[in-house]
Amino acid sequence: MPDLSKIFTKIWIKRKIRRIYFLTRLSDVMDWITIRRKEPLVPLTRDIWGGPALNSLAFYKWSLGDIELFKNLAKIKPNYQVLDVGCGIGRCALGFSRFLDNSGSYDGFDARFQDIEICKKFEHRYTNFKFQHVDLKNSFYNPNGKLNSSEFSFPYDSNKFDFVFLISVFTHMFPDDIKNYTKEISRVLKKGGRCFITFFIKDIDIIEEDNTLNKKSLKPAFSFKNKRENHYIEDTSKPEFAVAYKLEYIKEMLSTNNLTLKVPPLPGLWKGKGDYMTILKSSLKAAPNFTRFQDIVVVEKI
Ligand SMILES: C[S@@+](CC[C@H](N)C(=O)[O-])C[C@H]1O[C@@H](n2cnc3c(N)ncnc32)[C@H](O)[C@@H]1O
Repeated sequence: MPDLSKIFTKIWIKRKIRRIYFLTRLSDVMDWITIRRKEPLVPLTRDIWGGPALNSLAFYKWSLGDIELFKNLAKIKPNYQVLDVGCGIGRCALGFSRFLDNSGSYDGFDARFQDIEICKKFEHRYTNFKFQHVDLKNSFYNPNGKLNSSEFSFPYDSNKFDFVFLISVFTHMFPDDIKNYTKEISRVLKKGGRCFITFFIKDIDIIEEDNTLNKKSLKPAFSFKNKRENHYIEDTSKPEFAVAYKLEYIKEMLSTNNLTLKVPPLPGLWKGKGDYMTILKSSLKAAPNFTRFQDIVVVEKI
């Protein structure tokens, strides 16, 4: 007598696999209809992870919103030499590919090999775009990485860049690592060049209440209750999932490296009232305004 439960399990698994396959194909078709026939460099929905953009079209709009933010806060120009530290799957590269001219350039590096593979398609289309995988250890993003961020030298000449930015990168790194990165940022920036960094700033003022947020939950997205030396973490089991700093600590680290604040730090929505996803989505709607999920710091090299 055949084992019926095994047979049914096999059929059930096969059906699930086919279903996932068709759904995935369907999402590819939707991507093509909504945006990829016009902008083939937009990643497929199935390659998009993290963040509020849950499909290719939203991801594309978000990338354009980021460029508006940089225009406003960092006065970027089309001929700029730009560095994207922790570039992920190239969201900002997408916006910059429409903004930079041939005399501008775009470099990005990231600890995740698979993200850089996705970014490589920019290199095929634009000779002035370059991406590198660096095997940096991060317990959340690249747990088997071989290199320490606290000792890593950026693979670029000194005084090369007009604009360096880090979106949601220092929010996943520890004090010795961000100290070294800040030193490296200052080294590779030209004098007068600007840097845009997002942080979770533990003691920044809470942003005015946003009426679009979900009022049912009265907690901010993160509490950062766990104090460690010079930083705070959200989740002790995944320490680099979210890391916060005090404003004084950040200011001191920046000024030690000749980086001076251009505008007062801009508070993000993470401290607002609402569950994580609701807050994150409302930060997407806010683009291209100044408000984002994380706090924003813009500095200039003196
Ligand atoms: C939340 S994602 C943000 C990605 C991208 N900046 C964006 O806004 O779409 C954080 C990124 O930082 C990268 N990362 C983590 N530690 C890093 C490090 N030490 N150096 C460079 N990148 C790092 C991760 O691999 C991940 O791609």
